[in-house]
Amino acid sequence: MSGRPSPLEEPVGELSLKGRHFYNLAHFSKREVESLLEAAFEFKRGGGGLPLAGKSVALLFFDPSLRTRASMEVAIHQLGGQAVVLQPGQGIWDLEFEEGAVMDGSRPEHVKDAAAVLSRYVSAVCVRAFPKLQNWEEDKRDKVLKGFLQHSRVPVINLESCWFHPCQALADLMTLREKVGSLEGKKVVLSWACHPKPLPMAVPNSFALMASQFGCQLTIARPPEYALDPDLVELVRRNMEQFGLKFRETTSMEEALEDAEAVYPKSWGSLAFYGRWEAEKAVRGRYRTWIVDQEQMNRARAACFMHCLPIRRNVEATDGVIDGPQSLILQQAENRLHTEKAVLSALL
Ligand code: CP
Repeated sequence: MSGRPSPLEEPVGELSLKGRHFYNLAHFSKREVESLLEAAFEFKRGGGGLPLAGKSVALLFFDPSLRTRASMEVAIHQLGGQAVVLQPGQGIWDLEFEEGAVMDGSRPEHVKDAAAVLSRYVSAVCVRAFPKLQNWEEDKRDKVLKGFLQHSRVPVINLESCWFHPCQALADLMTLREKVGSLEGKKVVLSWACHPKPLPMAVPNSFALMASQFGCQLTIARPPEYALDPDLVELVRRNMEQFGLKFRETTSMEEALEDAEAVYPKSWGSLAFYGRWEAEKAVRGRYRTWIVDQEQMNRARAACFMHCLPIRRNVEATDGVIDGPQSLILQQAENRLHTEKAVLSALL
């Protein structure tokens, strides 16, 4: 760990959600998350009103998106508000994030000015910024999200950062609740999956934290080189201990899937090879069999198949599984809309 506070070490809030930042779902108590879920189910039933009437919300996308961008724009519109979509470096100024930077390079505006200005126009600032995937010590600072959290005077919503994707985790929780009811003691598997490129760890991090916070019997299946950040794994382990559960990791997808109730394949880059992706390619190439096919699903009996999307068909999972009756991928994607409405109306 560097000398800076880790994004894992934020305090857990206990009071009203109004005015809070939504950076990591694990910063909210179970009761607070339950209240968000209740609101999301009410929105899904068609209720909820227009709590954002007359309000504007900025959506800053430093990186591409389909679901997050579309669901947030639709959510804000359906709640009576206006979305202001901005792409730094493409139509708005590129931003500097280092404190005390001598800004004589290619970035004309500092986040402290951009966040302060936006705070005078809008009621929330939502930010997507992926890791640069060169140096984990640098990426783990999560400096884009941290810059907005520090300088914004209005709530900041994380639309996926280097560490976390809390909107996805909340939609995943809602989907699991719909499918299996209470999560306590339910066996769920987060499995590394094959992919042609190294991917960020925000989705697996957030899924593992959410599953452990809600008492799932979580197993992570992964090749030896693909451990998640040890501080995050330790937090998952401690969360599970509070339910009397033992966190399990295995290098066998087959073994992990035995009797699982939910299977969540997801690829991520190797911390052991972080930034050395040419070297990692040879390692990754050895694990092409890490694909969820019907044979794997059969081991899990009645398991549901989950994925945040986008998914590489016939690489991470086969067409048959993705389009089959056990697949919840469209339900998860739809629930992004309902859960984001719940977050927006609670924070604003
Ligand atoms: N799951 C998810 O966040 O999708 P997008 O990257 O398309 O927003």
